[in-house]
Amino acid sequence: MANKDILKNRYKRIYNQLQDLLPQTNNRIARLATVAAILHFKMPQFSWTGFYILCGGELIVGPYQGPLACQVLDKKKGVCWAGIERKKTIIVPDVHKYPDHIACDSRTNSEIVVSLFNKDNQVWGVLDIDSRQFETFSDIDKEWLEKIVALIEQ
Ligand code: SME
Repeated sequence: MANKDILKNRYKRIYNQLQDLLPQTNNRIARLATVAAILHFKMPQFSWTGFYILCGGELIVGPYQGPLACQVLDKKKGVCWAGIERKKTIIVPDVHKYPDHIACDSRTNSEIVVSLFNKDNQVWGVLDIDSRQFETFSDIDKEWLEKIVALIEQ
């Protein structure tokens, strides 16, 4: 099977599992923690998998899996803030070429940030995933991760 098909099938299984798990509670923290745990341990190419959440104008770390990360992100810098401001998914094939990338872990080489929307279409945070390889993330990741984060608000 081609690599793309393997990736799509893996996302499909994760999506189905989360569809069953997330309705068990409406609690947002429990849902975020569940998404982070499943994605991180089923996708070996992910080195850090977690959430940054807008709180009183700051971007604060939420549930995550992986090495210790920055708790508060410098205002209006980096990929996560760009995800908040642009309100769309950002794929960074080489973080060293992203002008104001915030390096919480110097081993990170590529990254994807997916914006989180509430039912009123307001952005309230981002899903952030890092990888130690370059060019890890593609439109397949974008498509499935956007579907997965939509489950959090259902
Ligand atoms: N790289 C992110 C910061 C968060 S860490 O990757 C976990 C950014 O530039 O916003």
